[in-house]
Amino acid sequence: MNYKKFIKEKIKEIREIVGEEKALSVLSGGVDSSAVTLLGYKALERNLKVVFVDNGLMREGEPESVVKNFQKLGIKVEIVNAQNIFFKALKGKTDPEEKRKAVATAFYKDIFREIIKEKKIKFLFQGTILTDIEETVAGIKRQHNVLAQIGINPQKEFGYQVIEPLIKLRKDGVRKVSKLLGLPRSICQRMPFPGPALSARVIGEANRQKITVVRKATKVVEKELKNSGAFQYFPVLMEDRATGLRNNKREFGSIIILRCVESVDARKAQPTKLPWKLLEKITKRLTTEIPGVNRVCYDITPKPPATIEYI
Ligand code: XMP
Repeated sequence: MNYKKFIKEKIKEIREIVGEEKALSVLSGGVDSSAVTLLGYKALERNLKVVFVDNGLMREGEPESVVKNFQKLGIKVEIVNAQNIFFKALKGKTDPEEKRKAVATAFYKDIFREIIKEKKIKFLFQGTILTDIEETVAGIKRQHNVLAQIGINPQKEFGYQVIEPLIKLRKDGVRKVSKLLGLPRSICQRMPFPGPALSARVIGEANRQKITVVRKATKVVEKELKNSGAFQYFPVLMEDRATGLRNNKREFGSIIILRCVESVDARKAQPTKLPWKLLEKITKRLTTEIPGVNRVCYDITPKPPATIEYI
């Protein structure tokens, strides 16, 4: 594909669709939403409103780094604090698809609809990519940003039209577009992160306490595996617990699964053959730095039969 031509065409298309109206782009910090925001900004400039929704489920330092990165590109990002809305929506939800639906509904109905009404906006940009659609349509998992393909008409249900410039691309294509758009390497090469964010990295109910545990674990894992070259790496907090031993006392503690995979486009994945020493170091850090975690397991299952994420 000629990505330069792709960008030119998309900018032209966006201008034709939006005209003199206003549009909203919601950043998550990832490469898809960043690319879409920059495309939208190049097409619409001040008629594009950019927000970052602080849903309480993001990685440490995420809101600040998103604002800073986009400031450097001349784009102002407003942070919307919506932590309570998301934790309320997730309360008591243990089923994976219910959790995904709760997060999606909080975004589309409670947050975007309000912003759009308040700011008199008609269009919402989304970084939906082909893999999101395929997995949702195949019934593997409901991706947070898939609407029309599962019978949701955003105009009718939420009061705005959705624009999805990346819908024909996969992750590798989005990275190429991002580079050409001038996004920093740290964003272009950033590993995928799911829409339900850290709530997808907690089995069972994702409450504040469990999200705090998995956020700390994520920081450790991302630091230790930064140079692994893997496609994606992250910890998952299990719902089960395990007996352990700390300071000569029995401890019924938490279990963390470490996942690290090689993939090109997330359709298939292989576990990374991480060095034993590195696995030992991560295990040591997780079990000493995070209170209550006394067991770390490394997942060596490929996709398929597993998926990359746990919910
Ligand atoms: P799975 O777990 O199905 O994930 O093997 C495939 C890729 O998609 C990412 N993923 C998501 N991305 N919204 C997204 O934008 C989502 O709801 C979502 N769920 C999973 C996952 O991290 C992996 O890279």
